[in-house]
Amino acid sequence: MATAEAIFRTGLPRLHHFDPSFNCSSSLLSVNPADGRSRRSRRNHGSKALVKCPAKVHARRGNTDALSFGRINKFAGRQDSSRCKCQQQSETFGSDGGSGGMSIPVFDVNGGQEFALQQQLKPENGNVAVGGNGALMDGNGTATTTTDGQPKGSSSNPIEDEAWDLLRASVVYYCGNPIGTIAANDPNSSTVLNYDQVFIRDFIPSGIAFLLKGEYDIVKNFILYTLQLQSWEKTMDCYSPGQGLMPASFKVRTVPLDGDEDASEEVLDPDFGEAAIGRVAPVDSGLWWIILLRAYGKCSGDLSMQERVDVQTGIKMILKLCLADGFDMFPTLLVTDGSCMIDRRMGIHGHPLEIQALFYSALLCAREMLAPEDGTSDLIRVLNNRLVALSFHIREYYWIDMRKLNEIYRYKTEEYSYDAVNKFNIYPDQIPPWLVEFMPSKGGYLIGNLQPAHMDFRFFSLGNLWSIVSSLATVEQSHAILDLFESKWEDLVAEMPFKICYPALEAQEWRIITGSDPKNTPWSYHNGGSWPTLLWQLTVASIKMNRPEIAERAVELVEKRISRDKWPEYYDTKRGRFIGKQSRLFQTWSIAGYLVSKQLLANPDSAKILVNDEDSELVNALSCMIGANPRKQRGRKAFKQPFIV
Ligand code: GLC
Repeated sequence: MATAEAIFRTGLPRLHHFDPSFNCSSSLLSVNPADGRSRRSRRNHGSKALVKCPAKVHARRGNTDALSFGRINKFAGRQDSSRCKCQQQSETFGSDGGSGGMSIPVFDVNGGQEFALQQQLKPENGNVAVGGNGALMDGNGTATTTTDGQPKGSSSNPIEDEAWDLLRASVVYYCGNPIGTIAANDPNSSTVLNYDQVFIRDFIPSGIAFLLKGEYDIVKNFILYTLQLQSWEKTMDCYSPGQGLMPASFKVRTVPLDGDEDASEEVLDPDFGEAAIGRVAPVDSGLWWIILLRAYGKCSGDLSMQERVDVQTGIKMILKLCLADGFDMFPTLLVTDGSCMIDRRMGIHGHPLEIQALFYSALLCAREMLAPEDGTSDLIRVLNNRLVALSFHIREYYWIDMRKLNEIYRYKTEEYSYDAVNKFNIYPDQIPPWLVEFMPSKGGYLIGNLQPAHMDFRFFSLGNLWSIVSSLATVEQSHAILDLFESKWEDLVAEMPFKICYPALEAQEWRIITGSDPKNTPWSYHNGGSWPTLLWQLTVASIKMNRPEIAERAVELVEKRISRDKWPEYYDTKRGRFIGKQSRLFQTWSIAGYLVSKQLLANPDSAKILVNDEDSELVNALSCMIGANPRKQRGRKAFKQPFIV
């Protein structure tokens, strides 16, 4: 309560005035790719598709006319996917297949008409061009040198060379064009599950690796095609989740052409969670998509992509979904369990840190990219309000160190009033015994989750690292998190970076919280397993804080084992000694994560494409709020001036 109050009443000199009458949906218009009509108008008139039974909905096919080659179809028959002829023609990624004049459908939100654009990365007259990051590009828009001028494909490190070969082998093609990377590419695995799909979150390190290498097409294609999937009608049984949701993953399927036994075509088949284990909605996908879009623009210099009408609409649809009013008292995003990298039950429902850090980062990235136009200023106002409230909330209430722990230890409880110190009614007995040992005297971290009468004290790596990268954490907090990494190296890293979370849930806690999940047993998989992919996020964070030696130390450890172990998805045991029980081998984001770390360490400046600098307007706003910190100055009387945001 005090948070909201503080935001709304604090004088914030340079941010915009908050307009409570703004309704995100009123300024947004999305287009149904199937018929070119606005979804809003479909909804207003009662969309029949929403109430159709699943069988009928499944009969609805994608808009084949919109695509020059292949089509996007959520409801394609569940057949085994096989590579069509056009895929086989483009085995060499980066050849003409990458940009040979493919038409990408674009939906014109104004007229509701579809038209096709030629890809624009191809330099005119086949000349060599210089990419935004200094890499030389050939006539196909493909870089021929790396950003540091080295010929592509060469490195003095055999592990890196192997990683590049594996990464290229994981590239998925759609009608001859690279559009993503498969999650795992283990030739000896008999249980593929959905690891043969392109996961949005898994592609992020792949995309960054290609961007830093100067190979932009795959990222551009990925962004544009997943954007098409975003607009699709998605249904779980008879219920449709909100428009703007990005899929968790998609697969390229080859299906027979209607009425022609000899012909086939490719379709993109997305999974929005309706087929995923546990049916979890991937809240992180859209946030990562925005972050990658900004990185693409910064790295390639091709800002025309983010300026496109359909891309602008895509950004707004994601924002609309995230900024929609609900029942929340907190500015953090309320999600179900398993809505992010941890995509099955692990007791992270509510307001998990990972989602908040990505949300904050995506808001900042989106603000940078939104084109000034009618209607956007209202959205920016709402967005600014949320940024201020979110950073205050996380910095103030999620942060723990020795001082704060001691404060919690002495909390009074059951405080009814505006003056409460212990606002969330945390009972001091919740402080777990392991934490008393774990918390170093120098250092601290952001807890995993905060709910009424509940602090999840587990340490979650990705959320903490991305809070540093996005400047959700203050500079002091960011250093303290890295201090903690260093002083707790044996717990968080030991023999393989990084524990996804610490500590593991054991015994009765494991039974109740995971539902006795046999994959999430203690110190395995999401429950305290060690994930090499997290290396790249650590690298960005440590470069941002000018402490790259932390990442270098982790990379050294990885290089000792990862190639010999066949690039596992995760490791098990307290010290990360075993390859995970059910871990995939040749897991693409383990490979790409390593490559991104190497690239960033070789050229630390390039981390800027991912980093969000502290925003001075936000700092101003926050310092006003901290001045009115309810801990120091409690009660409604403290806020005399109505807020201006
Ligand atoms: C697992 C991970 C998830 C990842 C997927 C594909 O389900 O938990 O984060 O996206 O595998 O690699």
